[in-house]
Amino acid sequence: MDQPDPKKTRTDAAWLDAHWMPFTGNRQFKAHPRMIVSAEGAYYTDSDGKKIFDGLSGLWCCGLGHARREITEAVSRAVATLDYAPAFQYGHPASFALANKIKELTPAGLDYVFFTGSGSESADTSLKMARAYWRAKGQGTKTRLIGREKGYHGVNFGGISVGGIVGNRKTFGQTLEADHLPHTQLALTDKTAAFTRGQPAKGAELADDLLRLIALHDASNIAAVIVEPFAGSAGVVIPPVGYLQRLRDICTANNILLIFDEVITGFGRTGAFTGAEAFGVTPDLLNLAKQVTNGAQPLGAVVAKKEIYDTFMATGGPDYMLEFAHGYTYSAHPVACAAGVAALDLLVQSKALERVRELAPYFADQVHALRGRKHLTDIRSFGLAAGLTLDALPGEPARRPYEVAMKCLAKGVYVRYGGDTIQLAPPFITEKAEIDTLVGVLADALDATA
Ligand SMILES: Cc1ncc(COP(=O)(O)O)c(C=O)c1O
Repeated sequence: MDQPDPKKTRTDAAWLDAHWMPFTGNRQFKAHPRMIVSAEGAYYTDSDGKKIFDGLSGLWCCGLGHARREITEAVSRAVATLDYAPAFQYGHPASFALANKIKELTPAGLDYVFFTGSGSESADTSLKMARAYWRAKGQGTKTRLIGREKGYHGVNFGGISVGGIVGNRKTFGQTLEADHLPHTQLALTDKTAAFTRGQPAKGAELADDLLRLIALHDASNIAAVIVEPFAGSAGVVIPPVGYLQRLRDICTANNILLIFDEVITGFGRTGAFTGAEAFGVTPDLLNLAKQVTNGAQPLGAVVAKKEIYDTFMATGGPDYMLEFAHGYTYSAHPVACAAGVAALDLLVQSKALERVRELAPYFADQVHALRGRKHLTDIRSFGLAAGLTLDALPGEPARRPYEVAMKCLAKGVYVRYGGDTIQLAPPFITEKAEIDTLVGVLADALDATA
């Protein structure tokens, strides 16, 4: 077998060339590879044997830390017992176990779990569900989708249509019929709103823009509004107090479905099981991925309220027929479901949410103490997540964050750089001293960046 030994990994150009890497500067990476070979707890080890603190919990997905025995053993058992079962027309116990667990941990009323393989698939599934739901109810003109500027809903065509990060949209031609609410990154237009800790007090009225879109298109043509409770990938953009409730009220009053994309906010990052719970607003559809399996297996889910599920069942025709012509070969993959059950059990049993709530104020104190450092124009935070905006170099907004992240890496700390931001999301198991190191290394990196 031609399996590379991770401990003696090759880094020569010819070998690296074959993998066209996702969301990566391939040319830069292949000239300066950053090869991670193992992980345990809150740390990675690279191919030089250096330990690296995981300041973003992988890609927001490994909050419980890496290589947790409960999860790795569940995965090993599952793959040896049932490596795969057909996702369509047949079932296996692990998917029902995970569906019931997700039902238990998500807000009351969100009780029907449709599995996908990723956050992007969850986004597109929820948008298709919304359109098909209205059609099943005899309101097939309700097709328009509304997202938000700076929103991220993965990279498939539905997701980029409602997504609001220009770099992810501009090169792919025509997308679905979609409009965008204004973002809530208040400091971009009001400097006094910068460096707000937690939810901004002002800005709920930004949700009223939905009324303008309803006046423009009419609610009879609008299927759904999709937002992240807090936007992660755009650099941690927090909803103002009352904003999500306002969106909920307008959607309810106008018969428009509200979808929360909780791929980042789901299962711990906010200190609650969901952003819906943390912000006290329940959507009609709730999308999950990432933290469901603690990153150990790819899996996503869309959780629907009863009335939506019932509508599909009631209009599905003869009972052997499909009620929703949608699904993936890897929907509810048995090994991924086993990882999900183990990860969610561990989330509950290890009291991870309590720990996030306990650590969050300390994390916010340390991160906000960076205010005044070179290049920083804004810091936003909630739970164990923070986004820092860096003053852009002319024509190159992404350069400074990249340079800062590389300096952090050289000092043994991984942070995410995206657009003009640095993003932090340490594991829930992080110790205070590790937050000190993370923030200290970041401070030095900012100071050392031109
Ligand atoms: C809110 C949100 N939705 C969807 C996605 C896409 O998930 P995936 O990369 O698993 O397709 C992400 C990924 O970061 C996300 O943050």
